[in-house]
Amino acid sequence: MGLPFVAIVLAAGQGTRMKSARPKVLFPVAGRPMVHYVVEAALAAGARYVVAVVGHGREEVGASLTEAFGERVRIAVQEEQRGTGHAVSCALPAIDDDASACLVLCGDTPLVTPSQLAHLRDAVGDAPLAVLTMRPERPKGYGRILRGANGRVLGIREERDASAEERHIGEVNSGLYFVRLPFLRASVAALRAENAQNELYLTDIVATAANGDGAASLLAEDAVSLSGVNDRSDLARAEDALFARIADAHRLAGATVRTGARIDWGVRVEADAVIEHGVVLRGATHIGGGAIVDVGSVLTDVVVAAGAHLKPYTIATSSHIGERAQIGPFSHLRAASHIEEDAHVGNFVETKKTTLRRGAKANHLAYLGDGDVGEGANIGAGTIFCNYDGYRKHRTEIGPGAFIGSDSQLIAPVRIGANAYVATGTTVTRDVPDEALAIARVKQENKEGYAPRLRSRLGAAAKKQG
Ligand code: UD1
Ligand code: CA
Repeated sequence: MGLPFVAIVLAAGQGTRMKSARPKVLFPVAGRPMVHYVVEAALAAGARYVVAVVGHGREEVGASLTEAFGERVRIAVQEEQRGTGHAVSCALPAIDDDASACLVLCGDTPLVTPSQLAHLRDAVGDAPLAVLTMRPERPKGYGRILRGANGRVLGIREERDASAEERHIGEVNSGLYFVRLPFLRASVAALRAENAQNELYLTDIVATAANGDGAASLLAEDAVSLSGVNDRSDLARAEDALFARIADAHRLAGATVRTGARIDWGVRVEADAVIEHGVVLRGATHIGGGAIVDVGSVLTDVVVAAGAHLKPYTIATSSHIGERAQIGPFSHLRAASHIEEDAHVGNFVETKKTTLRRGAKANHLAYLGDGDVGEGANIGAGTIFCNYDGYRKHRTEIGPGAFIGSDSQLIAPVRIGANAYVATGTTVTRDVPDEALAIARVKQENKEGYAPRLRSRLGAAAKKQG
């Protein structure tokens, strides 16, 4: 165990380079606001609590953090964004006097890992601070690490303030520090805005330490995990890295996840599930053991029970799919669809607020809205639950074992009894009792030998018209 510590997360900047009305730190990365990853990493590394500095979009950012982390996050406000050093000074009053050291993190480095932070803490030794450095593929935009002839850290130069020669330095500042609090309080109070941006740079405390007892540094092996997100191009790269990380975690836990699947943070996938390429899993989605989610399916807040098979291009939202159920290809399950075990929903079937009970089938081309389909019932191709009269929605109830012939319209509210039979092409306007046959269609008439006469008449009319 190293020094006990707290953490400051800087999250007040506007994120001008995102060119957005939304505060940068709330941009989702794999379905979760960027700053949440940073706060979580700090807590997982052992921070007793986190002080988040908010400013731009402060209500939204503060509320989002409080909702996710409760009392583990304290909110401090930076009224005006006068730089990272100024942001830290706004956080200090929220830190209890008994705290002795502090991690300082940027809210825009969502890939940072708890172990990187723990290593940084261990690197501080007797120094007043340790700065985490890296050698990224593109150093552009980062502050450069200045070192003396003996290799000791002298300070940090922001790119805008750097000479052409300094810009060639490949080692840069990750923006993460572990700092003893008495030193942090004193050095931040002494910052001056003598730089290109006229801001109070937190980076200047590194030179302060170097001029005193010396600044410790730790060069991170994994620079990708420390990437800062400043624009949407950075965001896309960070998100790719995070999707890869999430997919790998599921793979190591026993699921098959093809390259190109995008599984959001927080989605659960059990062992032996298969997630094919092009699948998107979002929100509170949970995929049971052995379930197959085939190519191109998009699931948002969907529970898929063990052994279910979602064929390609299944689109589902806020729904439940039971064990061994078969869905798709090309099915659309809208909110509150409950497909029970062994039920089938086939191509071009849309459901909404509808339950298909065990073993029920709707295999082709149907709209099933506001309904309840009993166990083992069969819904023929082209069936429509006419649930909407232009003002209100009404329910359709179908008893167990009922058979609905193709191209039937069920005008809700309506109830079809158990084991009843609705003949193909029927428009059902009244309830059908158990075991009854409902048939409502015009009687067919065959006119013998009439087809050639019809053709010659239609042909002549067409010729006359030219
Ligand atoms: C900063 C560092 C740079 C480092 C890089 C790492 C400074 C001066 N520069 O640059 O050395 O290489 O991070 O990613 O520190 N923020 C506030 N209040 C402010 C200004 C910023 O809370 O007044 C927050 C932002 O919301 C952001 C973080 O601080 O989360 C960093 O700010 P940003 O403007 O992105 O700094 P960089 O230019 O990336
Ligand atoms: Ca940044």
